[in-house]
Amino acid sequence: MSKHLLIVYHTQSGTTSRMAEAVIRGARDPAIDGVEVRVRSALDADADDLLWADGFILGTPENFGYMSGAMKYFLDRTFYACENRVNGRPFALFVRAGNDGTGAINSMRRILTGLAVKEVQEPILFAGEFDESRLVECEELGLTMAAGLEAGIF
Ligand SMILES: Cc1cc2nc3c(=O)[nH]c(=O)nc-3n(C[C@H](O)[C@H](O)[C@H](O)COP(=O)(O)O)c2cc1C
Repeated sequence: MSKHLLIVYHTQSGTTSRMAEAVIRGARDPAIDGVEVRVRSALDADADDLLWADGFILGTPENFGYMSGAMKYFLDRTFYACENRVNGRPFALFVRAGNDGTGAINSMRRILTGLAVKEVQEPILFAGEFDESRLVECEELGLTMAAGLEAGIF
């Protein structure tokens, strides 16, 4: 039976989506055939997506020292519908920021702690000038999450 991996992200000017593309590429590595990957924008994703997922990855820019409004809107709309129904499920984060990013990471972690889900990889944070050479880290994040779900190690 396939495991389910959900990737939800938001982008405004496009750089977080470049990170997301690499995460998705890693998650859909042809060597992994036991994981179904579903990709949603933060504005479209809903509680059914989160309940479907055996694990998930969230990506956002940092805006005003916080996650993007769209990512917050996703968590606002899903929190109570998913509370106590996703306990222990693994997740990971990726963040794009102009110069910081810690506010986005901390704000997402705080809400996700309330959902009792389990962070299984360090966040990937791209701050400052966009560094193409680091996209491989995003790919590895997606691959590791998919491989871990397939192997049942999370
Ligand atoms: C309204 C707004 C607020 C922002 N606030 C922050 C911030 O608090 N900290 C930071 O490091 N970058 C901040 N940035 C920079 C964005 O994080 C950065 O431009 C990022 O690349 C945007 O991602 P995107 O290309 O996926 O939209 C802000 C950008 C905008 C448009």
